[in-house]
Amino acid sequence: MKKISIAIDGTSSSGKSSFARKIAEKLGYAYVDTGAMYRAVTLYAMRSGFIESDGTIDVPGLIVGLPDVRMEFILNPQTGSNELWLNGENVEQQIRSIEVSDQVSAVSQLPEVREQLVLLQQQMGAAKGIVMDGRDIGTVVFPQAELKIFMTADPEVRAMRRYKELLDKKQKVSLEEIMENIRKRDLADTTRAVSPLKKAPDALTLDNSRMSIEEQIAWVEEKIRHLTEE
Ligand code: C5P
Repeated sequence: MKKISIAIDGTSSSGKSSFARKIAEKLGYAYVDTGAMYRAVTLYAMRSGFIESDGTIDVPGLIVGLPDVRMEFILNPQTGSNELWLNGENVEQQIRSIEVSDQVSAVSQLPEVREQLVLLQQQMGAAKGIVMDGRDIGTVVFPQAELKIFMTADPEVRAMRRYKELLDKKQKVSLEEIMENIRKRDLADTTRAVSPLKKAPDALTLDNSRMSIEEQIAWVEEKIRHLTEE
C-alpha cells in the first residue's frame, strides 16, 4: 500500500485529534497534534514570565527564549497515546488548561513561533505515513498532502465536547467559559495575518455535528482506499 500524508485542519474542538488519532492507529501511521506544540510554547511563555496577567506578551523575550523550548511526543503505555513533554517534563495536562487555552491564539499568531514549529512539523512528516492536525497543515505545512480534510461542527456541539473532556480530566470550568474561549479562538485563528485558519481549495469538508466517530472513520476510510491503491 502506498504511504500518504493526511492533513486535518479545522475549528477549535471540532474533534480533529480523536479523528486523526484513530486514522493513524488504523493505518499504522504517526500522529502529530500540532495544537499541542503551540500550547507547549504558550505554557513555556507563561512560566518564563513572557506573558503578563493582562495577556501582554514580551515578544522579544519569547523569541530569544524559543531555542530553549525542547518538545517531544512520548508514548504513554497506559493510555496508548503520545503525550507532550516540554524540557523533560510531561505537560499533557497543563497544556489543556483553560489558562493556556486563553493565551494560545495570541502566541500562535507570532510569525517567529510559527516559522519554528512549521519547520519542525515538516521534518516530522518528511517520510510520509503521517496524520497531522492543526489549522494550517493543508495550506502551509503540507500543501502537497494527498488527503486534506477540513473539519467543523456547530459551536454548541464543540463546546459541549470540550466541557465533557475537561470534566473527565477533573478540571473545573463552566460551559459558558468554554463557549467564550471557542468563540474567541475561532475569531483569532481565522483573522490573524500569518497562516489564518482556512480551508485549502482541495480539502474535503467534514461537518461532524451529527456524526459518530465510527461514521467519520467509515467516511474517511473510503477516501484513503482510493488514494493508497497502487
Ligand atoms: O488544536 P488546538 O485547539 O489544541 O490548538 C490550540 C491553538 O493553537 C489554536 O487555537 C491555534 O491558535 C493554534 N494552532 C495554530 N496552528 C496549528 C495548530 C494550532 O495556530 N497548526
